[in-house]
Amino acid sequence: MRRTEIKAILSQEEIGAEVVVKGWVRNYRGNNFVMFVALNDGSSLQNLQIVIDNEKFDAQLLKKITVGSSLSITGIIAKSEGKGQSIEILASLVEVLGTANADEYPLQPKKHSLEFLREIGHLRFRSNTFGAITRIRHQMIYAIHTFFNERGFYNIHTPIITGSDCEGAGEMFQVTTLDLKKPPLTKEGHIDFSEDFFGKQTNLTVSGQLEVEMACMAMSKVYTFGPTFRAENSNTSRHLAEFWMIEPEVAFADIYDDMDLAEEFLKYLISYALKHCREDLEFLQDRLLQEEKSKPEQDRSMPLIEKLEFVLANDFQRLTYTEAIEILKESKPNKKGQFKYDVKGFGTDLQSEHERYLVEKHFKKPVILTGYPKEIKAFYMKQNPDGKTVAAMDVLFPQIGEIIGGSEREADYDKLYNRMIEMNIPTEDLHWYLDSRKYGAVPHAGFGLGFERLMLFVTGMGNIRDVIPFPRYPKSAEF
Ligand code: 4AD
Ligand code: MG
Repeated sequence: MRRTEIKAILSQEEIGAEVVVKGWVRNYRGNNFVMFVALNDGSSLQNLQIVIDNEKFDAQLLKKITVGSSLSITGIIAKSEGKGQSIEILASLVEVLGTANADEYPLQPKKHSLEFLREIGHLRFRSNTFGAITRIRHQMIYAIHTFFNERGFYNIHTPIITGSDCEGAGEMFQVTTLDLKKPPLTKEGHIDFSEDFFGKQTNLTVSGQLEVEMACMAMSKVYTFGPTFRAENSNTSRHLAEFWMIEPEVAFADIYDDMDLAEEFLKYLISYALKHCREDLEFLQDRLLQEEKSKPEQDRSMPLIEKLEFVLANDFQRLTYTEAIEILKESKPNKKGQFKYDVKGFGTDLQSEHERYLVEKHFKKPVILTGYPKEIKAFYMKQNPDGKTVAAMDVLFPQIGEIIGGSEREADYDKLYNRMIEMNIPTEDLHWYLDSRKYGAVPHAGFGLGFERLMLFVTGMGNIRDVIPFPRYPKSAEF
């Protein structure tokens, strides 16, 4: 007989039907006569209760049923008398697929701290919290592809190994097969990368944007969704060294189209989560409410689902960087010296404390900032007529700060070339990028959404290390 998933059994409630279920024991209890096992197979947050009549089974077999062990159960679906579940399985056949030594198994049927779960990252999929996050993460990936597919975008696989250091000089991970103890040297005594695997120096990509722009110049609407790598030493709850990024790129579009797409995209994903991940969101919401119970009422955050609905119900506040700087300069925390970094005026690079002030305290809703000083933004952004700012946009979210960064691109060959020279960007390495401005250039715009930042917002989790299966950050590449 084929295995039925627990989710299907719980939703169909086919009383009297015989089924085979397989999964892992989350908990068990009982007495001399009967044993109740809570079985989970990942298809649902809910466990399925298995009722085992001790008399019908070998005592040695039943002893092997411990927390973490895996079982195959054949039985009949019955109405449950007990509270906590409406149906249960009356077992007729019990098979222990894999035992789990109770003295060693680190997960207990109780609440573990997130820090502890991170230490046992290889097992944390078996916790309710990480199971919920895993299901939501999957639904969000699916929703992203659905969103773009419905709108006629093509998905482009951009390279992970790159030969050009496009935007983040100095924060890339090198890829090499050279012997680090004895690298080949040139006559001048430098490392001779012509002997390296690719015949040149290569790195892990920080973004698929430059390559996806090439596809955009033929396919009109494209996006890449891949892993990106940044070797910045940021030990924060919002940074990873390896994270996933969604980068759409649209031809014949300007910065306003870009903002519209970003807002529509984020709202689509949030509303998708509310529709398709209700049970897991409710679980995470309860978890957060429990955590905040000890805080005074005015310090508690909005319940998770209410927060998600709030974002859907409001237009994002759009304003220029220059306007934002004025607000921040005049703000109470700035005047009282409560920001870690003072806001001095035009040119100040905004920190997440400033971004969060605008979103959480001033506007009390998501914000899109445009028109950043060209000095603090990438070389490829469209230069505004004022000569000072570029057509950049950042979307700022409560609790997160920057969730999206994007821009209209500089489509004019000369302006782009000159900016690259000014910023010491090697024009020879990026000859192919410059070509796109030589052959049929058109206005185009795009952005990057940090997938784990989205996950932080949707799940309400506080640390980005808890929304990706195996986080990589400074001094940590476990598992
Ligand atoms: O603002 P960023 O650096 O933009 C780009 O990489 C552009 N090439 C995007 C584009 O226009 N196609 O990064 C985009 C987003 C940020 O807004 C943030 O959400 C996320 O990526 N991000 C990170 N997420 C986790 N850990 C990090 N270290 C991140 N750095 C950026
Ligand atoms: Mg950015």
